[in-house]
Amino acid sequence: MANEDKFKKVISHAKEYGYVFQSSEIYDGLSAVYDYAQNGAELKKNIRDYWWKAMVQMHENIVGIDAAIFMHPTTWKASGHVDAFNDPLIDNKDSKKRYRADVLVEDYCAKIEAKIEKEIKKAAKRFGDAFNKEEFVSTNGRVLGYKEKIDTILKRLGKSLENEDLADVKALIEELEIADPMTGSKNWTDVKQFNLMFGTKLGASAESAMDLYLRPETAQGIFVNFLNVQKTGRMKIPFGIAQTGKAFRNEIVARQFIFRMREFEQMEMQFFIKPGTQKQWFDYWKDTRLKWHKSLGMGDDNYRFHDHEKLAHYADAATDIEFRFPFGFKELEGIHSRTDFDLKQHEEYSGKKLQYFDHEENSSYTPYVLETSIGLDRMFLAVFSNSLQDDTLEDGSERTVLKLPAVLAPTKAAVLPLVRKDEALTKMAKDIVDDLKWDFNVIYDEKDAVGRRYRRQDAAGTPFCITVDGESIENNTVTIRHRDTMEQKRVKVDELRDIIKAEVDVKHWLMKMK
Ligand code: GAP
Repeated sequence: MANEDKFKKVISHAKEYGYVFQSSEIYDGLSAVYDYAQNGAELKKNIRDYWWKAMVQMHENIVGIDAAIFMHPTTWKASGHVDAFNDPLIDNKDSKKRYRADVLVEDYCAKIEAKIEKEIKKAAKRFGDAFNKEEFVSTNGRVLGYKEKIDTILKRLGKSLENEDLADVKALIEELEIADPMTGSKNWTDVKQFNLMFGTKLGASAESAMDLYLRPETAQGIFVNFLNVQKTGRMKIPFGIAQTGKAFRNEIVARQFIFRMREFEQMEMQFFIKPGTQKQWFDYWKDTRLKWHKSLGMGDDNYRFHDHEKLAHYADAATDIEFRFPFGFKELEGIHSRTDFDLKQHEEYSGKKLQYFDHEENSSYTPYVLETSIGLDRMFLAVFSNSLQDDTLEDGSERTVLKLPAVLAPTKAAVLPLVRKDEALTKMAKDIVDDLKWDFNVIYDEKDAVGRRYRRQDAAGTPFCITVDGESIENNTVTIRHRDTMEQKRVKVDELRDIIKAEVDVKHWLMKMK
């Protein structure tokens, strides 16, 4: 299936199976804002829990907080967001569409990247088993030419943005003859900066109301609480503070479903370290976070690191973990070495000391910070799009199956009486639901023929179907069917809990990080 078709299928499947709805759909929706439906809310919660367990529960030196969305407005002066949280935007004069200028250039480079991939595929086919990818990409003239072109473009873009030379960003777009992706027009306005924070007001009367921002990242709630947590938790460096929560950005380009939203959720962790150790911790967290992703079994070659050329104002090193979404490799998570920038800024703006007293060295210092930051919605999209597959079965028929990692699946098992009208079967099935629901999300499903029910649960992502039939009444056994293999086994009802647990237990999955 072409990538675009696959993405369309992801969006429609997410709606059809109760995962994601457009916000305020009955009023024609609100752009780049989405609601999580009955299954989506469960999947999202399970992803959040999987992250929280890996970060907080499994690290004795990391604790979690839940800071407010509203923060004192000076926070955002100190953090640099008021002055520097901008995107360079450009309008097309003919289509009146607005774009991020840097994204237009990056998309242009992604197209060159796709040409490299095509060359590699062609060569792999030509050379067969003797093909050495590394050697090919480092010696093939055409590939090297493409790589150099990408490098030159991105370096120039990075430099122009760093120097705030927006005229050069426009010149680059014109030189590369980049056209409006929707209409093909090359009639561009100048590039302008646009602040992404949403403003709001706190207070009853217009005169006394205070201008506030909806937080554009959760990280600042951690920085301003650094000393409170360190003192009350008697935390010793190195230690981390984690939190999950909503963030808001007035994104200019927001048309990739839940990939780029105006209201979204982040899962962030700030790791406070001794100055000078940032390189070591940067490598540690790169490695640890990649292992977390890979533990979900979504294909190791679907991830890659993208080291930043252009660093944010607060960072001395940064990388993205990119994932292969249906529309190509894109950022899923950021890992940033943020130096002591944020704590120093908050010290300066608040007038309060935010230092750590090191008892062993008998001296105080401002800690450096290593940050891991992942968008929960983006992770949701990665999991959901990767799991949605069309299988061709042995008999040539097709099935749509949502192969969600079992640990994340919203419903772990569906219990199905073989015949709806047989009271003994329906009672036994309901009793099994009542028993299993203490440990797992399970549902009862009696409508339609059993084959259709299997297909429905496959498409909804339910890892197990438990079928109660005539034999069940006689010997207290049921069949358990596995979503991915479609294998069916007859087992004792008493064994169900352990069978399901073995596959959905967080421990079973997180152990893969070892
Ligand atoms: N505290 C650092 C920070 O916020 P970021 O790279 O701007 O860094 C971190 O954001 C992560 O948040 C991204 O890797 C992405 O997964 C997610 N994210 C950012 N903007 C988003 C948006 N508009 N919609 C959905 N997720 C977003």
